[in-house]
Amino acid sequence: MQTAPHADLGTFLNVLRDPAGIPAPPVLFQWLMVLTWALHILFVNLVLGGGTLAIAAFLRRKDPLWGRLSRAMTQVTKIALSLAIVLGVAPLLFTQVIYDPMWYASNVLSAAWVMGFIYALGLGYTCWFVFSFRNKEGASAGELLWAIAAILLFALNGFVMHVLSIQSILPAKWLEWYAPQGIPDMSGLKVHAFSLPRFLFFFAAAAAGIGIFLLAYADYFRLRSDFPAPYRELCRRIGWQWARWGFLGQVVLAITWFAGVEKAAAHPFLWMTMIALLSLLILLWRGKPEAFAGKGYLYQGLFVVSTLVVGIAREEIRLGALLPLGYDPMSYKVNLDLASTLLFFTTFLGVGGLALAFLIAMLWQAGKVEGPYVAGKTVARLSDFALAIVLTWIAIFFGVGLFVWLRNFH
Ligand code: HEM
Repeated sequence: MQTAPHADLGTFLNVLRDPAGIPAPPVLFQWLMVLTWALHILFVNLVLGGGTLAIAAFLRRKDPLWGRLSRAMTQVTKIALSLAIVLGVAPLLFTQVIYDPMWYASNVLSAAWVMGFIYALGLGYTCWFVFSFRNKEGASAGELLWAIAAILLFALNGFVMHVLSIQSILPAKWLEWYAPQGIPDMSGLKVHAFSLPRFLFFFAAAAAGIGIFLLAYADYFRLRSDFPAPYRELCRRIGWQWARWGFLGQVVLAITWFAGVEKAAAHPFLWMTMIALLSLLILLWRGKPEAFAGKGYLYQGLFVVSTLVVGIAREEIRLGALLPLGYDPMSYKVNLDLASTLLFFTTFLGVGGLALAFLIAMLWQAGKVEGPYVAGKTVARLSDFALAIVLTWIAIFFGVGLFVWLRNFH
């Protein structure tokens, strides 16, 4: 039975929804949110983990192999951040579709932090670019300040995202946060809630993530003579170490995090998360780094699956907090708009999918070649298709616009 205040809260949350409804069944947005969040966090792992490793390796740069590892990780971090940002937009949009009352309330309660987020990101990225230009052979120790500043700013970004997530699932506390002792606080300057184990969990995930990435990296470059065995062996050894400690940290922090979740034992994906992380930990704890030669891609795949499981567990925690209050995303009003949904998916899969397939295939092949790369038949064909579909899309886009405009032109 619901208590009266909960019933009120449920009505309040439901009233805050977009009265226009959503254009497709909520379950679609929920899955897309979980999937795209997993992609986002995979690249966040490379940013936080790769950046930290770049710093750690920089400290040992007198050894040329470590210096090279530091420079490689600096580039990985730089590129991963651009992908983490782009891939963060998707779950942001999907959250706003089915959890709009929670997301907006949480953002408004800490508005200054939300606005500061974008500046911290820009500043952090700039610092990382400076470090990336200066992290050359013979670089002085002072350059490290750029890297440390950047990592602290990235961590701050992660903290803001984390606070927003936590605040959004505690609607019963919003009123007290908004108006402590009845006096409204409009500053948006306060951080009202966070969970240390949950936040730190993502740093352990970053250590594990960059470790697993290095195992795959060492395998990927095995045929290139400019990636000699001693360098790849160092990468594999460091990757193995970071992954082991990262998974251990994830297991410990997940237990602490889940211990604070109400009715945690009733959520199957919290169990699944523990099983996935423990299995990976045991697999990595056995054997020596050499035993992982040739298995980098396999472990990369397993890590992606475990990240997806964590994503589902996060969603379960959210539902566990909101359903008892009377907020069920599945009951969102649907105003089915097949045309726009179809347009979205055909654009996403057709235009985005093909252009991405071309880019990924080309980069994958090009990276394996020493010296100039000449595209093979498949990649050349993919590029033709990708170009054709982008041009067709542009023609349809402007064609429909012109048609509608002219038809309504009097
Ligand atoms: C350096 C930059 C960033 C870092 C380190 C970072 C880190 C994180 C972390 C750790 C979480 C999980 C929080 C939790 O579950 O407690 C998260 C969630 C999320 N991030 Fe990021 N993030 C970054 C940038 C971005 C950007 C630029 C966007 C959007 C454009 C974004 C969108 C999201 C979204 C939508 C969520 C899920 C929120 C929810 O529904 O609970 N992130 N991020």
